[in-house]
Amino acid sequence: MALTNQLIVRGNTCVYCQNKKILQKGLSELTISLFFILPLVPEGELNYNCLFKTTSMNKEKDMQNETNSNSPLGAGGIDENGYYGEFGGAYIPEILHGSFERLKEAFYAIKDDAGFKAEYYELLKNYVGRPSPLYFASRLSAEYGTKVYLKREDLNHTGAHKINNALGQILLAKRMGKTRIIAETGAGQHGVATATACALMGLECIVFMGKTDVERQFLNVQKMRMLGATVEPVTSGNMTLKDATNEAFRYWCSNPDSFYIVGSTVGAHPYPDMVGFFQSVISEEIKWQLQEQIGRDYPDYLMACVGGGSNAMGTYYHYLNDDRVKIVSAEAGGLGVDTGETAATISLGTTGIIHGAKTLLIQDEDGQIIEPYSISAGLDYPGIGPAHAFFAKSGRTKVLAINDDEALDAAFELTRLEGIIPAIESAHALALLKKEKATFKPDDIVVLTVSGRGDKDMDTYVKHFK
Ligand SMILES: Cc1ncc(COP(=O)(O)O)c(C=O)c1O
Repeated sequence: MALTNQLIVRGNTCVYCQNKKILQKGLSELTISLFFILPLVPEGELNYNCLFKTTSMNKEKDMQNETNSNSPLGAGGIDENGYYGEFGGAYIPEILHGSFERLKEAFYAIKDDAGFKAEYYELLKNYVGRPSPLYFASRLSAEYGTKVYLKREDLNHTGAHKINNALGQILLAKRMGKTRIIAETGAGQHGVATATACALMGLECIVFMGKTDVERQFLNVQKMRMLGATVEPVTSGNMTLKDATNEAFRYWCSNPDSFYIVGSTVGAHPYPDMVGFFQSVISEEIKWQLQEQIGRDYPDYLMACVGGGSNAMGTYYHYLNDDRVKIVSAEAGGLGVDTGETAATISLGTTGIIHGAKTLLIQDEDGQIIEPYSISAGLDYPGIGPAHAFFAKSGRTKVLAINDDEALDAAFELTRLEGIIPAIESAHALALLKKEKATFKPDDIVVLTVSGRGDKDMDTYVKHFK
């Protein structure tokens, strides 16, 4: 489908878009991102009254939230409209309104449903292999002068944390009577997890993946195909995760009966809350594993990498209100935050809307997304989950940008010291140890999530191996 040439939104919001140039009138603090609108627009000129309605509803909410941005953290601090402070919400087109309403209804019905939980936990235990180990890394600890524990999501079936969420959402899809599943993927881990869940449940699966990622994550593409999924290479933009998400949204607009399994804590409400909930098993386990191993259930530090934010949200979930725990996140610095070749969304981002949520994103003054870059296919997203934008802005988390070379060094170091080859995404979290070394005391407990294993990144590692 070609990009639309013209888009007119009437009402007090007026957006006129021609040949990818967007002119805005009547928009106050809110930037409407071309990358949110374009995926939802079929060819031709359209009067998007639906966007006007959605936008104005959310603007009222924005105003309320301006006075409420220090709200206490509940399940990440979310309110009933899906806002974490000023970030979040649901900026969706009319055509998907019903789908989102039904999704919300179904998700909040199962959240505390004992039958659903039993079915989900049974799969996590006997299919995924949970609990994932909490491993005391003694040689890494000696290197950094503190006590480092690794939460081994790399040991899950399919090799990453993504399967926790894919199984939760597919059980929900089944309860809703859905037969066709769609998903976006960057590194291919979420695509493989979704294709696996679909094979397990006997459901049709279509995975959208940027062509650049199809090439750099060849092994995962072959796995998805072997699992019976259709992989749709996406050739718009720089052909990475954002473009795959755009295409999945487009497809969903024309096929609203499909169930879209979003792979991270991004997108419109309730996705960030739902994905965070399905990943919260990570910190649920950390609590009792720490209690068992060290006699107390909290660490001094939690660390994780943030692409959209799902492994980080799972790692932090049960500690967000515990101020004894310092939280440090790694985002992808690419070649360097000041080089223009970066995905450091929190360091550089400004408020805008992407894929249905108000969050921080890297964009120019016209609201055009600046193409992100990272060596890691799972971290080069131009936005960030709205909860993480809120945690960073409110000071709950410290966020550091890790450059490609720092992540590679950390991956080689873990491999040599502990015999664990991490995913390149997880290596960004490992690089935090060097950055924070000066703050560690010998008895501090640092829990760091290894979100995935490095098999899929072997080509990259081989290229940089010295
Ligand atoms: C192994 C691994 N870790 C981390 C990520 C980043 O995603 P998120 O921030 O949602 O955890 C990805 C994304 O594909 C991944 O494959």
